[in-house]
Amino acid sequence: MGRFHLCLLTTAVLVALLTSPQTARAQSANGKELYRNNCKVCHDKGSPHGQYSPMTLTQDQWRSFFKMKLIPAHKSAVHPKTGGKLLEQLTPDQIKAIQRFAIDHAADSEQPATCG
Ligand code: HEC
Repeated sequence: MGRFHLCLLTTAVLVALLTSPQTARAQSANGKELYRNNCKVCHDKGSPHGQYSPMTLTQDQWRSFFKMKLIPAHKSAVHPKTGGKLLEQLTPDQIKAIQRFAIDHAADSEQPATCG
């Protein structure tokens, strides 16, 4: 391997190291925003649908919620602001970002969070 290639490789590794935490951070900021706009709207304090923030549930409870309950529990949920069906408005990537945020800030996570 020539010096040039080694240099390229080093740069690539550095770039990967430097950008990945940032991407994760951006994603979790995004998840927080998405949670606020799409979940908190119906699950804020005093909500008749129940109050849920990331720290209401543990990481395992969130995992099983996203796997088994999100869709059946929200099939007929209509977003209060847009008037569209919640589940049709969220892309799979957005749901993933919300899930990440909820799990990262669950009751038994390192940084439990009420919603933000
Ligand atoms: C349109 C209002 C609305 C929105 C938006 C909404 N929910 Fe709900 N959610 C409900 C209702 C209504 C129920 C109760 C469903 C039931 O009784 O089966 C519920 C139930 C739940 C439950 C309890 C499920 C169970 O059976 O244990 C959780 C957790 C939850 N929602 C989280 C979320 C998350 C996370 C989001 C954002 C992705 C969200 N909700 C968005 C209305 C909403």
